Amino acid sequence: MALAPRATTAADARIDVLLDEPIARIDPNVYGHFVEHLGGVVYDGIWVGEGSRIANTAGMRQALVDHMRRLPKGNIRWPGGCFADSYDWRDGVGPREARPRRTNFWADGMGTRPDGPWKYDTNQFGTNEFVRFARLCQAEPYLAANLRSLPARDFYQWVEYCNSPAGSTTLAELRARGGDPDPLRVRFWGVGNETWGCGGNLTAEEYAVEYRKFTAWVPRFGQELSFIGSGPNGGDLAWTRGFFRNLTAKGEGALGSMWGWALHHYSWNVSRGATTDWDAGKGDALVYTIDEWYEMLAQADLMESLITGHWAVMGEIDRRHRVKLVVDEWGTWHKPGSEVHPSHHLGQQSTIRDALVAGLTLDTFHRHSDKVVMANIAQLVNCLQSLFLTDGDRFITTPTYHVFAMYAPHAGAQAVRTQFGAPRIGYQRVREKGHVAGLAGSASVHDRTLTLTVVNPHATEPSDTTIALRGGRAGSARATVLAAGDIHAHNTFDRPAVVAPAAETTVVVGSGGTITHRFPPASVTRLTVTLS
Ligand code: AHR
Repeated sequence: MALAPRATTAADARIDVLLDEPIARIDPNVYGHFVEHLGGVVYDGIWVGEGSRIANTAGMRQALVDHMRRLPKGNIRWPGGCFADSYDWRDGVGPREARPRRTNFWADGMGTRPDGPWKYDTNQFGTNEFVRFARLCQAEPYLAANLRSLPARDFYQWVEYCNSPAGSTTLAELRARGGDPDPLRVRFWGVGNETWGCGGNLTAEEYAVEYRKFTAWVPRFGQELSFIGSGPNGGDLAWTRGFFRNLTAKGEGALGSMWGWALHHYSWNVSRGATTDWDAGKGDALVYTIDEWYEMLAQADLMESLITGHWAVMGEIDRRHRVKLVVDEWGTWHKPGSEVHPSHHLGQQSTIRDALVAGLTLDTFHRHSDKVVMANIAQLVNCLQSLFLTDGDRFITTPTYHVFAMYAPHAGAQAVRTQFGAPRIGYQRVREKGHVAGLAGSASVHDRTLTLTVVNPHATEPSDTTIALRGGRAGSARATVLAAGDIHAHNTFDRPAVVAPAAETTVVVGSGGTITHRFPPASVTRLTVTLS
């Protein structure tokens, strides 16, 4: 649909940046990624093999590694997801030619999709390969342990395999045979995944018992270990409450065994209130109405209340908030049909709408940088809300990639409070009107440079906005804008730069230090302001 931007705006908006109201440092780990043995993520997306004609380093797709190095240095979660709770890490170590072939967790749901390592995993990509990939990307590895189908012993032996000193144990020697005599220094460990569902179908009470058992004694080898608990599905506050009550059943000391509590939230239901059915509620990745555009953005906006809701419940027991929030799966989930290759189970295309979801979500994490210390978009390549799409030697970046790159200056910077004043945007749901914020965003400061990122969700109208800095003064300002003339715009192998940021432009700073800026419709903008 071609958009016709108006010459004038109906309503002015205002953003106040409160420079002297710091929130917390934005942990670069909120720019984390998620890699699961699922469809085309590992095989084709990342792992092309050392002998491949596709450019690679140690079997990893070179173009992907090169692009990852341009993004914030966060973390990468692996091997799942649901897959993690069917995975025996021993299958993916030792000589590659001797590794077993196993039925992938997702194979049953793959119907007529072609056979290949996505169905019958060849285990060519195991622990050494994954950690090598993460390090090539300058990211921290985050391993998710199998809690459903392996006992705690396998978990702490995996830790031993990864972190024990060179030559110290049989597992350290096995690791060396995989090419890594020195410890892999893995700090982040997930203790199960979605234990309320595919990770064991447990109650919160049952999971708390398992969690205490799994974390009761894990060897450190001088490496700090940060354990991440399998948190709620969306707004399930009872799960959080039930878990924390039972985790601390033997005393509050157990809170010290948990670094992060992992919430999952997908934006998927565009039925506008017609259904909550997991399949029926989903819409097409590329074809949608303006109301569906807004409904998807409203789903992303739910992240705010999920963070504050679970944080409040955690605080009922963890009064000092020792445990922080992790959102180790987030993103859009559309119905099948737009994947770029038939083997890409749960693969989907990604439009400017997905880019706005990314902007809204990352901005939410920044505004709650005192609570959220890690997040992982699902998933890195060829899957749900991916940053990259590949097919053989073809490789493109999605609009979501561009948002991650534009937002990079936020990573590690000090988040400061903002106030956005803009009329809400109304749209039609099945039974009532829905609303999304008229303008949303976040701000951070690093070395006298303010980064202000702003999403204009309006499908057709720009927003003329006054931006005032409190507690500081703007010297100069520049803008980088990601926008498209069509709310369905996306990149393809044939047209890879349909959605890409425009060249940076200078923004006029008024004599009083105030900035007036027009945010185009359906856009994500980064303003870089040098403070005088
Ligand atoms: O990301 C796809 C799946 O979504 C993950 O495997 C699972 O954890 C979640 O339900």
